[in-house]
Amino acid sequence: MQAQADAWRRAGRRIALVPTMGFLHAGHLSLVRLAREMADKVVVSIFVNPTQFGPGEDLEAYPRDLERDRRLLATEGVDTLFLPSAGEMYPEGYQTRVTLDRLPQHLCGLSRPVHFGGVATVVVKLIHIAKPHLAVFGEKDYQQLLVVRRMVRDLNLDVEIVGAPTVREADGLAMSSRNAYLAEGQRPAALTLSRALTQARQQVAAGERQAAVVIASAVSMIQSEAEAIIDYVKICDPETLEDVSVIDRPVRMALAVRVGRSRLIDNMALVPPNPPESAQGETP
Ligand code: PAJ
Repeated sequence: MQAQADAWRRAGRRIALVPTMGFLHAGHLSLVRLAREMADKVVVSIFVNPTQFGPGEDLEAYPRDLERDRRLLATEGVDTLFLPSAGEMYPEGYQTRVTLDRLPQHLCGLSRPVHFGGVATVVVKLIHIAKPHLAVFGEKDYQQLLVVRRMVRDLNLDVEIVGAPTVREADGLAMSSRNAYLAEGQRPAALTLSRALTQARQQVAAGERQAAVVIASAVSMIQSEAEAIIDYVKICDPETLEDVSVIDRPVRMALAVRVGRSRLIDNMALVPPNPPESAQGETP
């Protein structure tokens, strides 16, 4: 992979990387299409990264279907499908890990303490291996996108990080490989995430500024489905992920909810109706 990337770079080609864990869906493919538009050569990696799964999480159960993934990517004009093994990525004697101080202290980091260190570590390795000019990540995993952007700045990695919007099913459910764990009867509970976010977006667009009020409505919407068990419902600063109590600027709402054996996450921007006062003087 490194030799291929070097050859492309010598030939003046612009390389895009789309890291995934496979079991691809339309959300992944939207990232691939964006990469295709922005670069000459597209590398998709599929690697179910063991270091980002905690003890008792779904590493062994994580859905896999490489033949289906290959077929899907063949129609997207991907140049290289990079499929490292766990032994190649973390050989005997491996001992280095990238950690971030503050971003993982919020949202999913609280219930998944090793997760973002594992993500940062594998992403920096994939970047050094595929040597991309840009790498595409989904806003579906908003905290992951922030972690990757922060790491790239902090470690002076010479790569552009591109964020891509969340792709949803027709009924609003954010696409996820883990949706494969959902039983048919669990759909109403799974749909509470996108319904709660849409309701919150409307409340804030209509002028509600109290985060506590918006969160309370979301909590009762989710709790109306007995199978939906809340991990967190947060309204936070879109850069630091610190809690916000008064919504006087664009903020991010993020949810994690357990439905049966799936842990589902989703997020959305909440934008108040008037531009923030501090920005008003800036427009010429
Ligand atoms: P995975 O869950 O396979 O997701 C790969 C990429 O697809 C991520 O950037 C994710 O945000 C994006 N994605 C997932 N669902 C999406 C949706 N509905 N709409 C748009 N984009 C979506 O995230 C990972 O893998 C791993 O943590 C990884 C970054 C590969 C590191 O191991």
